[in-house]
Amino acid sequence: MTITTPLAGIILAAGQGTRMKSARAKVMHEVAGRPILGHVMAAMRAAGIERIVVVTAPDAEETRAYVRNEGGESAIQETHLGTGHAANAARERLADFSGIVVTTYGDMPLVTAACFKASLAAREKTGLSLVAFRAENPAAYGRVFLDGEGLLNRIVEQKDADEGARTCNLCNAGIFAAEAKAFFRWTGALGNNNAQREYYLTDVPLFAKRDGIACAVATVDEADVTGVNSRSELARAEAAMQDRLRAAALDAGVGMRDPSTVYLSFDTVLEADVQIEPFTVFGPGVVVKGGARIRAFSHLEGAEVGRGAIVGPYARLRPGAVLEENVHIGNFVEVKNTRVQKGAKANHLTYLGDAFVGAGANIGAGTITCNYDGFDKHETEIGAGAFIGSDTTLVAPVRVGAGAYIGAGSVITRDVSADALVVVRAEQVEKPGWAEKFRTRKKARKAAKERSK
Ligand code: UD1
Ligand code: MG
Repeated sequence: MTITTPLAGIILAAGQGTRMKSARAKVMHEVAGRPILGHVMAAMRAAGIERIVVVTAPDAEETRAYVRNEGGESAIQETHLGTGHAANAARERLADFSGIVVTTYGDMPLVTAACFKASLAAREKTGLSLVAFRAENPAAYGRVFLDGEGLLNRIVEQKDADEGARTCNLCNAGIFAAEAKAFFRWTGALGNNNAQREYYLTDVPLFAKRDGIACAVATVDEADVTGVNSRSELARAEAAMQDRLRAAALDAGVGMRDPSTVYLSFDTVLEADVQIEPFTVFGPGVVVKGGARIRAFSHLEGAEVGRGAIVGPYARLRPGAVLEENVHIGNFVEVKNTRVQKGAKANHLTYLGDAFVGAGANIGAGTITCNYDGFDKHETEIGAGAFIGSDTTLVAPVRVGAGAYIGAGSVITRDVSADALVVVRAEQVEKPGWAEKFRTRKKARKAAKERSK
């Protein structure tokens, strides 16, 4: 086959995922900020499999919406009758397709493009392939037996296996590749004469053999094909994914004092010479440019951090936060949907929401943009070089001109002209000696009370 042969993927995701004990479909649970299913789709695409059909349960609306959004197609498996029955449910969707299909289970978040490439390469030998792995603990997996030539002899499901078969640790990962028309001929012929009364995908090689097609076996690392069936397996997959992401970041020149405390998202972009201090969490959609430093205990999501910027410790960047070069965002500062231009600083206890901060502006401690009136969001604009005194409340919509000064504690409700000074607070009143007189009076009264007891 030439590399121009069309490829299609089938992802089986109609299982109930009972052991997750969740109202949400198993494949929609997230690993590193992306649904398990999204990881499988991305790995398939990275292997050159563009067209993807996901087999879903009838009530899995959320899953189908996600698949649509990711440019995939869905099929529905009306009744839960086994993996072979599920694969067959993709038949109609792919009726017009002639090329190679690769099927996989949808609950393997750590699967890589290399696994699918290995499956496609093995298929070229015989016309059908499966992917296997050596399991440390083969427990519930289907066991794979090879013949003298290293081709598949048979797969025995755990529930159908005798004592002898159970000692085999070569296991079925659930990835099959075959020419589409032949594949659906075989899935259409499956029966359910087994311990679980299910239509097993693993019986496909038996029907292929009747057509004179042997099944080649590709072997991959167990770590890449472990499935998620429970919350604890989900947590283990998350840990393994984090280790992968951290290793890739370190290799790309990112500095981390303690990588094990830094949580990344599947799409986090960290350039070389970024420094990440411990206990930092990245939600999806973050880009950090070279030379920036993210200090300890910060939380970032949907944000962009420019070259040489300093964020944290204890800072929060929310979606739409864009920090240009050398911006400083300090402790207990939250930034949302706000561009902060070059060299501007907000170092302490501040909320900047739906705002624009001009280059070199200085935002004093405790400054708040009041962006929400209970119904709508409003914008605040702070001009370049403006100086916002501590504890200023900016009631949006409002603009502060470039270079203006705002006195500490001001509540700004009207626009401020460039280079003006605005102070909005009550006059300071001083009463000389008042405190001393007050204390003397109070002490005398207290003493009189004590005596009369
Ligand atoms: C399956 C394999 C086993 C393999 C193991 C790897 C079969 C018969 N057995 O067993 O050889 O070692 O996976 O993890 O294939 N699904 C549907 N519809 C169904 C049944 C399952 O869509 O009717 C989907 C599930 O959502 C899941 C996948 O197929 O993503 C695997 O199903 P599961 O029930 O977990 O199969 P296992 O018993 O683990
Ligand atoms: Mg399983």
